[in-house]
Amino acid sequence: MPALIVGNWKMNGLGDDIAEIAAMAGSAANSASRLWIAPPFTLIDRAVIVSAGAVSIGGQDCHAKPSGAHTGCISAAMLADLGAGFVIVGHSERRRGNGETDADVRAKAEAARAAGLQVILCIGETQAQHDAGETDAVLAAQLAGSLPADAEGLIVAYEPVWAIGTGLTPTLADVAAAHACIRERLTARYGGGGHGVRILYGGSVTPANAADLLKVADVGGVLVGGASLTAASLLAIAAAA
Ligand code: PGA
Repeated sequence: MPALIVGNWKMNGLGDDIAEIAAMAGSAANSASRLWIAPPFTLIDRAVIVSAGAVSIGGQDCHAKPSGAHTGCISAAMLADLGAGFVIVGHSERRRGNGETDADVRAKAEAARAAGLQVILCIGETQAQHDAGETDAVLAAQLAGSLPADAEGLIVAYEPVWAIGTGLTPTLADVAAAHACIRERLTARYGGGGHGVRILYGGSVTPANAADLLKVADVGGVLVGGASLTAASLLAIAAAA
């Protein structure tokens, strides 16, 4: 299975930066990895056009409702309407900064599936939880509260909160243990369907550490923030895979 390299641009990117997505798309055919990019909402339309299917384009969040009086919000159907293929839900920056609960994340994941989008569902422990040895319990609780009813179209991203944007990464043994814990929960929840759910690692992935992370058992790809903003950097990560 080729590695899946997903770029999360967060609140970065103006019109000129579409050139980076065009460059990623231009090289995607030569890559052994699959490339997905989640630019800000404002660039999705243009990103879909310049990537011409070579790179899948997605959203970083969606509302749980299909439509209605929710000023400033974007529904999963709106993303699909623009040509998006996936959406990230439950990123720790939204859990923390926007007060999203596991139940909110589950509702968003269900909404995304109903709109035909693939879902990247993010979970991960804080530094304090990590230091207290609570990682497995935290991941299990987040999965229990946020997994959608069906494994179809689902991807889980393990993103330790303390590793995001910090330059810190867990040891490879810790990544392996976390992914094994997630796999166990997925198969307990979905049976055979849980084996087919891809699990990504995210948090300070760079061209320098990507190869080692991608060799860890059950790491099916990476979710990349800062190092996904330029084609040179993202393609170097894809090459490392
Ligand atoms: P980072 O972000 O690669 O900048 O650490 C990862 C993420 O938040 O998905």
